[in-house]
Amino acid sequence: MNGPKLSQSRGNKLVDSYGRIARKLRVSVTDRCNFRCLYCLPDSEITWLPRESILTFEEIYRIVHIAVNLGVQKIRLTGGEPLVRKNVEVLVHFLRQIPGLASISMTTNGYFLLEKVQALKDAGLDGLNISLDTLSREKFAEIVRRDAFDKVIAGIQEARRVGFTPVKINVVLIRGINDDEIEAFTRFARDENITVRFIEFMPLDSAGMWRREMVISAEEILQHVHRVAPFTPVDPDGSDPAKRYVFDDGRGEIGIISSVSQPFCHLCDRIRLTADGFFRTCLFATKEFDLKPLLRGNASDQEIADFLASAVSMKEEGHLINLPGFVRPTRTMHAIGG
Ligand code: 5AD
Ligand code: SF4
Repeated sequence: MNGPKLSQSRGNKLVDSYGRIARKLRVSVTDRCNFRCLYCLPDSEITWLPRESILTFEEIYRIVHIAVNLGVQKIRLTGGEPLVRKNVEVLVHFLRQIPGLASISMTTNGYFLLEKVQALKDAGLDGLNISLDTLSREKFAEIVRRDAFDKVIAGIQEARRVGFTPVKINVVLIRGINDDEIEAFTRFARDENITVRFIEFMPLDSAGMWRREMVISAEEILQHVHRVAPFTPVDPDGSDPAKRYVFDDGRGEIGIISSVSQPFCHLCDRIRLTADGFFRTCLFATKEFDLKPLLRGNASDQEIADFLASAVSMKEEGHLINLPGFVRPTRTMHAIGG
């Protein structure tokens, strides 16, 4: 594959009007998913994005290369479920060739890891976040609406066996569904010596069932964690949205991502590319920028770079979930990229 002929001078050219610099790009490689998590997708017929609108690996590579030249340092591949995109490890391999890209990681539901994780490691993937919202097989089937618990657990084990350390486990906490498992997950983090990150439920579910009362506060989570073992907060690292806690005996780690109750928008260094080539400057953006006419017309790399920089300059100050006039984005999580 021929990379774009850009000058190799990398700089921080993606700056918004609040002075934040975009350093992390989340790339959704497909909106499709083999699960139907109740906080994300409906269990009914879903209209997926048309295939011809989905960016090719060449198109993704080109955007990422341009973004890296503009100062992006880290890439995260997401979906839908990124592992349902055929040969996604080939994309990882290509992206690995981009000079100046510090890391490539992936957020996955874990289902295909058993067969795919070695290839991902070999292709140069640096990090894995795996979703696991319950430790009960029965509840798992209710939440993701697929009978896949054993396969995901086996996938997590395989990820660790091939050398992904630390594997991070993402738990979306929802009151009345899995908030009774905070202590069990804390013990799991310690027994397995891994990182468990509790994520607040966000109003991005397609069913529109989100209610503020379903969000579990960091304080409440920590009360449960405390019952399991003594812990200490880790000094915050600038833009990491997770507040991290380590245990005094050094085993396991907990992270809390309070996107709703304690927004971290003022530190946000993320931008997003959807599977169908829209550039988004916020998870909750109601405005998005279509890159396809540029990619599929004959725009130069410089024109694309200018387009990205201009979009970032318009990045919103933050999400407005906590304000009365909040409007949900029309795309839900699977089509934005978590
Ligand atoms: N609220 C919070 N997290 C969500 N995810 C998907 N939908 C939501 C939501 N409504 C998470 C998944 C996964 C990542 C891709 O996004 O659990 O960890
Ligand atoms: Fe699929 Fe992830 Fe959405 Fe679950 S949260 S349905 S695994 S895209």
